[in-house]
Amino acid sequence: MSTPHIAANKGDIAERILLPGDPLRAKFIAENFLDNPVQYTAIRNIFGYTGTYKGVPVSVQGTGMGMPSISIYVHELIKEYGVQKLFRVGTCGGMHPDVKLRDVLIAQAASTDSGMVRNIFGGGINFAPIADYELLSKAVANVKKLGLRATVGNVISVDRFYDEEIDSEKLRSYGILAVEMEAAALYLLAAKFHVKALALFTVSDHLFNNEVVSAEERQTGFNDMVKIALETAIDD
Ligand code: HPA
Repeated sequence: MSTPHIAANKGDIAERILLPGDPLRAKFIAENFLDNPVQYTAIRNIFGYTGTYKGVPVSVQGTGMGMPSISIYVHELIKEYGVQKLFRVGTCGGMHPDVKLRDVLIAQAASTDSGMVRNIFGGGINFAPIADYELLSKAVANVKKLGLRATVGNVISVDRFYDEEIDSEKLRSYGILAVEMEAAALYLLAAKFHVKALALFTVSDHLFNNEVVSAEERQTGFNDMVKIALETAIDD
Protein backbone atom coordinates (compact mmCIF):
# COMPACT_ATOMS: atom_id res chain seq x y z
CA MET A 1 0.00 0.00 0.00
CA SER A 2 1.13 3.53 -0.65
CA THR A 3 -0.54 6.92 -0.43
CA PRO A 4 0.13 9.52 -3.13
CA HIS A 5 2.99 10.93 -1.02
CA ILE A 6 4.18 8.15 1.34
CA ALA A 7 5.44 4.76 0.10
CA ALA A 8 4.78 2.77 3.27
CA ASN A 9 2.63 -0.21 4.17
CA LYS A 10 0.24 -0.02 7.09
CA GLY A 11 2.22 -0.87 10.20
CA ASP A 12 5.50 0.54 8.78
CA ILE A 13 4.97 3.86 10.55
CA ALA A 14 4.94 4.16 14.36
CA GLU A 15 2.10 5.83 16.31
CA ARG A 16 4.66 8.42 17.46
CA ILE A 17 6.39 10.59 14.87
CA LEU A 18 8.80 13.51 14.66
CA LEU A 19 8.26 15.89 11.76
CA PRO A 20 11.15 18.08 10.57
CA GLY A 21 10.56 20.12 7.42
CA ASP A 22 13.87 19.09 5.86
CA PRO A 23 14.07 15.43 4.74
CA LEU A 24 17.82 15.40 5.43
CA ARG A 25 17.07 16.36 9.02
CA ALA A 26 14.73 13.36 9.15
CA LYS A 27 17.68 11.22 7.98
CA PHE A 28 19.99 12.85 10.55
CA ILE A 29 17.52 12.22 13.40
CA ALA A 30 16.93 8.62 12.30
CA GLU A 31 20.66 7.88 12.06
CA ASN A 32 21.74 9.67 15.23
CA PHE A 33 18.84 9.24 17.66
CA LEU A 34 16.95 6.06 16.71
CA ASP A 35 18.06 2.46 16.98
CA ASN A 36 17.79 0.25 13.88
CA PRO A 37 16.16 2.87 11.62
CA VAL A 38 14.52 1.57 8.44
CA GLN A 39 13.60 3.94 5.62
CA TYR A 40 9.98 3.50 4.51
CA THR A 41 9.58 6.23 1.91
CA ALA A 42 11.54 8.42 -0.49
CA ILE A 43 8.71 9.75 -2.68
CA ARG A 44 9.77 13.25 -3.85
CA ASN A 45 12.93 12.76 -1.75
CA ILE A 46 10.81 13.38 1.35
CA PHE A 47 12.35 10.67 3.53
CA GLY A 48 10.64 8.77 6.34
CA TYR A 49 12.16 6.26 8.79
CA THR A 50 10.99 4.06 11.64
CA GLY A 51 13.29 2.89 14.42
CA THR A 52 13.13 2.67 18.18
CA TYR A 53 13.95 5.12 20.93
CA LYS A 54 14.65 3.46 24.30
CA GLY A 55 12.91 0.40 22.89
CA VAL A 56 9.74 2.21 21.75
CA PRO A 57 8.91 2.43 18.02
CA VAL A 58 9.24 6.01 16.76
CA SER A 59 9.13 7.37 13.20
CA VAL A 60 10.59 10.51 11.71
CA GLN A 61 9.38 12.01 8.43
CA GLY A 62 10.11 15.15 6.43
CA THR A 63 7.15 17.41 5.66
CA GLY A 64 8.51 20.05 3.30
CA MET A 65 7.99 23.73 4.06
CA GLY A 66 4.75 25.57 4.72
CA MET A 67 1.22 24.68 5.73
CA PRO A 68 0.05 23.21 2.38
CA SER A 69 2.98 20.77 2.37
CA ILE A 70 2.87 19.67 6.03
CA SER A 71 -0.93 19.26 5.73
CA ILE A 72 -0.54 16.62 3.02
CA TYR A 73 1.83 14.51 5.13
CA VAL A 74 -0.03 14.97 8.41
CA HIS A 75 -3.38 14.11 6.81
CA GLU A 76 -2.01 10.88 5.30
CA LEU A 77 -0.05 9.93 8.44
CA ILE A 78 -3.16 10.22 10.60
CA LYS A 79 -5.84 8.94 8.21
CA GLU A 80 -3.91 6.17 6.42
CA TYR A 81 -1.27 5.12 8.95
CA GLY A 82 -2.99 5.73 12.31
CA VAL A 83 -0.35 8.09 13.73
CA GLN A 84 -1.46 9.34 17.17
CA LYS A 85 1.26 11.65 18.51
CA LEU A 86 2.91 14.16 16.17
CA PHE A 87 5.85 16.39 17.03
CA ARG A 88 7.02 19.09 14.68
CA VAL A 89 10.73 19.71 15.17
CA GLY A 90 11.65 22.79 13.18
CA THR A 91 13.27 26.17 13.10
CA CYS A 92 11.71 29.58 13.62
CA GLY A 93 12.59 33.25 13.44
CA GLY A 94 12.64 34.88 16.88
CA MET A 95 10.60 38.09 17.15
CA HIS A 96 10.56 38.81 20.89
CA PRO A 97 13.22 40.02 23.34
CA ASP A 98 12.56 36.96 25.57
CA VAL A 99 13.85 34.73 22.78
CA LYS A 100 17.47 34.35 21.72
CA LEU A 101 19.20 32.50 18.89
CA ARG A 102 19.48 28.72 19.52
CA ASP A 103 16.76 28.81 22.21
CA VAL A 104 14.22 26.01 22.18
CA LEU A 105 10.60 27.19 21.90
CA ILE A 106 7.45 25.18 22.40
CA ALA A 107 4.29 26.48 20.73
CA GLN A 108 1.44 26.62 23.24
CA ALA A 109 -0.62 28.10 20.42
CA ALA A 110 -0.11 29.08 16.80
CA SER A 111 -1.64 32.29 15.56
CA THR A 112 -1.82 32.40 11.78
CA ASP A 113 -2.61 34.38 8.66
CA SER A 114 -3.47 31.12 6.89
CA GLY A 115 -6.53 30.87 4.70
CA MET A 116 -6.59 27.16 5.57
CA VAL A 117 -7.80 27.85 9.10
CA ARG A 118 -10.11 30.69 8.03
CA ASN A 119 -11.69 28.60 5.26
CA ILE A 120 -12.66 25.75 7.56
CA PHE A 121 -14.31 28.02 10.11
CA GLY A 122 -16.70 30.57 8.63
CA GLY A 123 -19.31 32.59 10.47
CA GLY A 124 -16.88 34.97 12.12
CA ILE A 125 -15.13 32.23 14.08
CA ASN A 126 -11.35 32.34 14.40
CA PHE A 127 -10.37 28.83 15.50
CA ALA A 128 -7.45 28.87 17.98
CA PRO A 129 -4.89 26.21 16.98
CA ILE A 130 -3.41 25.00 20.30
CA ALA A 131 -0.96 22.37 21.49
CA ASP A 132 -2.23 19.18 23.07
CA TYR A 133 -2.11 19.95 26.80
CA GLU A 134 -0.85 16.51 27.85
CA LEU A 135 2.08 16.65 25.41
CA LEU A 136 2.81 20.26 26.33
CA SER A 137 2.90 19.61 30.07
CA LYS A 138 5.01 16.47 29.62
CA ALA A 139 7.42 18.33 27.33
CA VAL A 140 7.88 21.05 29.97
CA ALA A 141 8.58 18.37 32.60
CA ASN A 142 11.08 16.66 30.26
CA VAL A 143 12.90 19.95 29.63
CA LYS A 144 13.54 20.14 33.39
CA LYS A 145 14.46 16.46 33.63
CA LEU A 146 17.06 16.89 30.88
CA GLY A 147 18.48 20.02 32.57
CA LEU A 148 17.60 22.14 29.52
CA ARG A 149 15.69 25.37 29.00
CA ALA A 150 12.71 26.11 26.76
CA THR A 151 10.34 29.04 26.31
CA VAL A 152 6.62 28.29 25.95
CA GLY A 153 4.16 30.62 24.25
CA ASN A 154 2.38 31.82 21.15
CA VAL A 155 4.03 31.68 17.72
CA ILE A 156 2.70 32.82 14.35
CA SER A 157 2.49 30.42 11.41
CA VAL A 158 2.69 32.42 8.20
CA ASP A 159 2.10 31.57 4.56
CA ARG A 160 4.97 33.70 3.29
CA PHE A 161 8.62 33.46 4.33
CA TYR A 162 9.27 36.70 2.44
CA ASP A 163 6.50 38.85 3.92
CA GLU A 164 7.19 42.57 3.56
CA GLU A 165 3.80 43.47 5.00
CA ILE A 166 4.12 41.61 8.33
CA ASP A 167 3.66 43.95 11.35
CA SER A 168 6.35 42.43 13.57
CA GLU A 169 6.13 45.23 16.17
CA LYS A 170 2.45 44.58 16.71
CA LEU A 171 2.92 40.82 16.95
CA ARG A 172 5.76 41.30 19.42
CA SER A 173 3.64 43.67 21.51
CA TYR A 174 1.01 40.91 21.81
CA GLY A 175 3.68 38.50 23.08
CA ILE A 176 4.19 36.42 19.96
CA LEU A 177 7.60 34.82 20.34
CA ALA A 178 8.50 33.68 16.85
CA VAL A 179 7.49 33.21 13.23
CA GLU A 180 7.40 29.87 11.41
CA MET A 181 5.30 28.21 8.72
CA GLU A 182 3.67 24.93 9.82
CA ALA A 183 2.40 24.72 13.43
CA ALA A 184 -1.11 26.15 12.92
CA ALA A 185 -1.95 23.56 10.25
CA LEU A 186 -0.53 20.75 12.40
CA TYR A 187 -2.63 21.83 15.38
CA LEU A 188 -5.74 22.31 13.23
CA LEU A 189 -5.49 18.81 11.71
CA ALA A 190 -4.74 17.23 15.09
CA ALA A 191 -7.93 18.82 16.45
CA LYS A 192 -9.92 17.75 13.38
CA PHE A 193 -8.82 14.10 13.65
CA HIS A 194 -8.67 13.85 17.47
CA VAL A 195 -4.96 13.11 17.80
CA LYS A 196 -2.22 14.81 19.80
CA ALA A 197 0.31 17.29 18.43
CA LEU A 198 3.09 19.52 19.71
CA ALA A 199 5.39 21.90 17.82
CA LEU A 200 8.94 22.56 19.04
CA PHE A 201 11.49 24.88 17.45
CA THR A 202 15.00 26.13 17.68
CA VAL A 203 15.51 29.79 16.88
CA SER A 204 17.55 29.88 13.67
CA ASP A 205 17.33 33.63 12.99
CA HIS A 206 15.99 36.69 14.73
CA LEU A 207 13.95 39.55 13.36
CA PHE A 208 15.10 42.14 15.90
CA ASN A 209 18.79 41.46 16.38
CA ASN A 210 21.62 40.36 14.18
CA GLU A 211 23.30 37.73 16.34
CA VAL A 212 25.18 35.12 14.33
CA VAL A 213 25.89 31.61 15.57
CA SER A 214 28.11 28.89 14.23
CA ALA A 215 26.72 25.82 12.50
CA GLU A 216 27.95 23.78 15.48
CA GLU A 217 25.97 25.91 17.96
CA ARG A 218 22.88 25.54 15.81
CA GLN A 219 23.31 21.80 15.85
CA THR A 220 23.44 21.76 19.68
CA GLY A 221 20.13 23.64 19.93
CA PHE A 222 18.63 21.32 17.33
CA ASN A 223 19.79 18.21 19.23
CA ASP A 224 18.31 19.52 22.50
CA MET A 225 14.94 20.02 20.79
CA VAL A 226 15.02 16.50 19.33
CA LYS A 227 15.80 14.99 22.75
CA ILE A 228 12.86 16.85 24.32
CA ALA A 229 10.55 15.66 21.52
CA LEU A 230 11.72 12.04 21.75
CA GLU A 231 11.46 11.89 25.55
CA THR A 232 7.95 13.32 25.31
CA ALA A 233 6.99 10.98 22.46
CA ILE A 234 7.64 7.89 24.63
CA ASP A 235 6.36 9.44 27.90
CA ASP A 236 3.08 7.59 28.51
N1 HPA B 1 10.12 33.25 8.87
C1 HPA B 1 9.31 32.22 8.63
N2 HPA B 1 9.64 30.97 8.91
C2 HPA B 1 10.84 30.74 9.44
C3 HPA B 1 11.73 31.77 9.73
C4 HPA B 1 11.35 33.09 9.43
O1 HPA B 1 12.09 34.07 9.66
N3 HPA B 1 12.86 31.23 10.25
C5 HPA B 1 12.65 29.89 10.30
N4 HPA B 1 11.43 29.59 9.81
